Amino acid sequence: MGSPATAVRIRHDLHTRLLDARGRTDEVFRVVRDQAIYERPIPERHRIIFYVGHVEAFDWNLLAQRAFGLRSFQRTFDHLFAFGIDPVDGGLPSDTPADWPSREEVERYNRRLRDELDHAIEHALGRPEEGHPQLIPMLEVAIEHRLMHAETLAYMLHRLPSHLKMGGSESAAWKARAVKSHLVEIPAGTATLGMEHIHGDEFAWDNELGAHEVAVEEFAIDNYNVTNHDFLRFMQAGGYENPALWSDQAWAWKAKEGIEHPMFWRREGNLWIYRTMFGEICLPPEWPVYVSHAEATAYAKWLGRKLPTEAEFHRAAYGAPEGGKERSYPWGEEAPSASRGNFNFKSWDPSPVGAHIPGGSAFGVHDLVGNGWEWTRTEFAPFPGFTPMPFYPNYSANFFDGKHYVMKGGSPRTAACMLRRSFRNWFQPHYPYVYATFRCVED
Ligand code: AVJ
Ligand code: FE
Repeated sequence: MGSPATAVRIRHDLHTRLLDARGRTDEVFRVVRDQAIYERPIPERHRIIFYVGHVEAFDWNLLAQRAFGLRSFQRTFDHLFAFGIDPVDGGLPSDTPADWPSREEVERYNRRLRDELDHAIEHALGRPEEGHPQLIPMLEVAIEHRLMHAETLAYMLHRLPSHLKMGGSESAAWKARAVKSHLVEIPAGTATLGMEHIHGDEFAWDNELGAHEVAVEEFAIDNYNVTNHDFLRFMQAGGYENPALWSDQAWAWKAKEGIEHPMFWRREGNLWIYRTMFGEICLPPEWPVYVSHAEATAYAKWLGRKLPTEAEFHRAAYGAPEGGKERSYPWGEEAPSASRGNFNFKSWDPSPVGAHIPGGSAFGVHDLVGNGWEWTRTEFAPFPGFTPMPFYPNYSANFFDGKHYVMKGGSPRTAACMLRRSFRNWFQPHYPYVYATFRCVED
């Protein structure tokens, strides 16, 4: 951890970061008009009101008793708001608005809980020798858990009709530049997946730990993400009607849900409309297409290509031509900043592909971090030596079920701290709501 002065800085910085993260979830809830608070914009997920309580109850359940010995003041809420992950069995929740407390009641619970936690955190961070030995990673968990919800709430509110939302600004479709994508040859080499161990002010979730090298054969990869324009060609070629391009499962799900186009698109006569966070615009041809893993896979198959593996993504993003060292970010070692990509809450919507040239990788592959998570064809599974995090054992382990795929990179609404190389995200292959795009490879 370096010098005592460094330790003190890290500790104070943590509380500031938690307060900033709260600002991010407060910001997203301010988008929701009061009359919409019991809406359920995504059928598999909870109503919005659940998340108003969840991001706070999570911190309380994690820290209050364990780290600070604080006593619960509203146990029913601690339980009511404890868990909120998509079911994988295809069942949908059936609760009604009347099952939930009022927004005011929940906000009162939140205010009290924040107050108590803030006092305890300030006190504990000032006395490192007395407190819980795991306090720092626990605070990191609270911060990143909340920031992940700031992002997944944006996916959810994206589905909410505009008249139920406030604020934000219209995203103009940027003036289309003619970008011509091409395949970039990546020579055989090794990619380091995972993080070795945590030192200094680093943090990693359980599923990231255990650095290991993976040999990657030569392959070629798209220098840009697949765009709306590209994907429209797939649709016009009958991609959604061709069962040969879809797995049996994906085909059945598509038929059941009646899915005929990406979730972010809407057809109006002969026109395609794009649903941005706060409005609608003509389909912006140069934006990366946001689709499910199943849709991405079908597109790749149509071209006789594949999605990259997790290791191929790493190699294209963080690798370097012969003799070069692996990088921490595609562009090198510098911390993420606005010119490098569309991330860290910079926008509510994508930007055109290739709009962040300073963020390119050593191989000239663009937008690998930011502007949309990137689907891989790697199933989400533990790295060798995986050990669940003691104070949150089911964060990852519940999802090692062969039903989730790894996503890498980040979206416009991914916080900077989660743009680290080892961070792994995951969703089910049919999940169409994520800010997730893709690019293809030829092996
Ligand atoms: C890691 C983004 C897939 O939102 O389902 C939030 C994060 N886990 N609360 C999700 C999460 C528990 C998780 N993802
Ligand atoms: Fe959660």
